[in-house]
Amino acid sequence: MKKSEKPFVLGLLGDGQLAQMTALAARSLGMKTHVFASSRENPAAFVADEVTLGDLADEAALVSFAKSVDALTYDTENLPYEAICKAAAQTPAFPDPNILHIAQHRIRERTFLATLGIPIPDVAFITSEAECEHATRVFTFPAVLKTAAFGYDGKGQRVVREASELRDAWRDLGDQPCVLEAFVTFEREMSVIVARAQTGEMQTFGVIDNEHRNHILHASVSPSSLSATMQQEALRIAQTIAASLNLVGLLAVEMFATEDGRVLVNELAPRPHNSGHVTQCANALSQFHKLCLAVSGQALGAIDARPGVMVNLLGDLFPDGVEPIFRRVGFVEPPLAATPGTAVTAYFYGKQEARPGRKMGHLIAVADTVADAYEMAERAYQVYVHAAAVAGGSRV
Ligand SMILES: Nc1ncnc2c1ncn2[C@@H]1O[C@H](COP(=O)(O)OP(=O)(O)O)[C@@H](O)[C@H]1O
Ligand SMILES: [Mg+2]
Repeated sequence: MKKSEKPFVLGLLGDGQLAQMTALAARSLGMKTHVFASSRENPAAFVADEVTLGDLADEAALVSFAKSVDALTYDTENLPYEAICKAAAQTPAFPDPNILHIAQHRIRERTFLATLGIPIPDVAFITSEAECEHATRVFTFPAVLKTAAFGYDGKGQRVVREASELRDAWRDLGDQPCVLEAFVTFEREMSVIVARAQTGEMQTFGVIDNEHRNHILHASVSPSSLSATMQQEALRIAQTIAASLNLVGLLAVEMFATEDGRVLVNELAPRPHNSGHVTQCANALSQFHKLCLAVSGQALGAIDARPGVMVNLLGDLFPDGVEPIFRRVGFVEPPLAATPGTAVTAYFYGKQEARPGRKMGHLIAVADTVADAYEMAERAYQVYVHAAAVAGGSRV
């Protein structure tokens, strides 16, 4: 961008921590940000240059918001598709709304992946009594039943141990359209985050290993320690998906590595991803920078990486009686000195209230080796666990 040009205005639909970190990255790249928020108290609203308060279901409000910015992007795939299409007719929206449409519904997502020949866990679609009954006879259990829409952090999912439990599980989820998936006894979970520019330039942050606790991401490790062959397969899969969707922006591909050496895709997220927070410190430019660069029509830039480990800080760590540091916004020094060669930092989203399972912030450690970064991140994490235990309210 030339100095004399008016700054590029990035429009953000969604006002959570992913939009907040995107807005801060945009600012560091010289852009302005305008967020469409449901409340001034939400993470992206208090860092954006401009805030429009409104309801994402209000089509007219979205269209007029779109007119006020140079490009649109999102921090969630759960947006009203028709309204987003109308907004995108005003102002370019990235990734394309069709990608949101696929990723926001597990039946469309599985159908798309299967058509592309991407390996996924065995799946059946349950949209009627008859399909449910049929699956009890032909599907192999244990399995996982997931609502087709609006799931996150394991919400809207039931493990079904045997066929006789399926009917009750489906009722429990509200008899709504679901996917029934084979239960995968994975060796590990990992993700690949692909960034793709408007020119078709494509980069990834490599394979990131992910550890979940209670269906919520706990830690991400970059680079992965998976075998080179399986990492190549994971990268090939993610790049194939991104190219076939003609992606502009970010696409996170969540995957399972099975004990018999297969890579299976679990789900797609066309936006910044929690596992990519490690790139804030481990990479020359983070996932948030890449998104801003892609959306504003620029080249993706440097990709240099150091070994890094990210650990989520959930609300469980901040019971009453612990200093409410989680209300701060941005990077803070954790209460612990880093060992030489290691850097450790904490980042908070500025949420006002800590609740169990709620993502409040994260820690990132970078070092010369993954082992050192892991040890440092774990030590820093234990400081918060200890403080919570002393206050008597930790559920960790
Ligand atoms: N088919 C499966 N087999 C075994 N574990 C699963 C399966 N599907 C999901 N899980 C576990 O549940 C977590 C959350 O499921 P996911 O489908 O990614 O939904 P979301 O992240 O939207 O809540 C996964 O990261 C994984 O740990
Ligand atoms: Mg997931």
